[in-house]
Amino acid sequence: AIERTLSIIKPDATRRNLTGRINAKFEEAGLRIIAQKRIRLTKEQAEQFYAVHRGRPFFAELTEFMASGPVVVQVLEGENAILKNREVMGATNPKDAAPGTIRAEFAESVGENSVHGSDAPETAAQEIAFFFAGIELVG
Ligand code: CMP
Repeated sequence: AIERTLSIIKPDATRRNLTGRINAKFEEAGLRIIAQKRIRLTKEQAEQFYAVHRGRPFFAELTEFMASGPVVVQVLEGENAILKNREVMGATNPKDAAPGTIRAEFAESVGENSVHGSDAPETAAQEIAFFFAGIELVG
């Protein structure tokens, strides 16, 4: 089925000017960028977005990092977009990421791993609504 998923290009990647190379990976995989904006999250916004991870040992590190510089939030659309995006990103830890994936090529560590992608249809819908109004999604 045609799905939509929420993608974030993280501060480590915007800092190294990798936005275009990461977007090329999405587009080459058949994912269409139907919404996109560059924003700077506050720590409070990062904590709200990652609320499911509150209590994990890396929560403070994660939310401080996500607020440390610009991010590009985007909605990707395509056949099986949620799983396809996860394949293009590669494993969370770049040491485990398959060759050719975004994290294998660009990620610096498990924390500074260049991209985030929704993990399931329910979270995709929630995460898209966190950043975008319906009128901003242009399929
Ligand atoms: P993401 O897909 O954005 O969702 C939660 C994030 O937590 C994950 O990617 C990682 O970047 C981050 N994360 C997971 N494990 C660790 C860890 N051990 N140390 C720091 N960050 C982590």
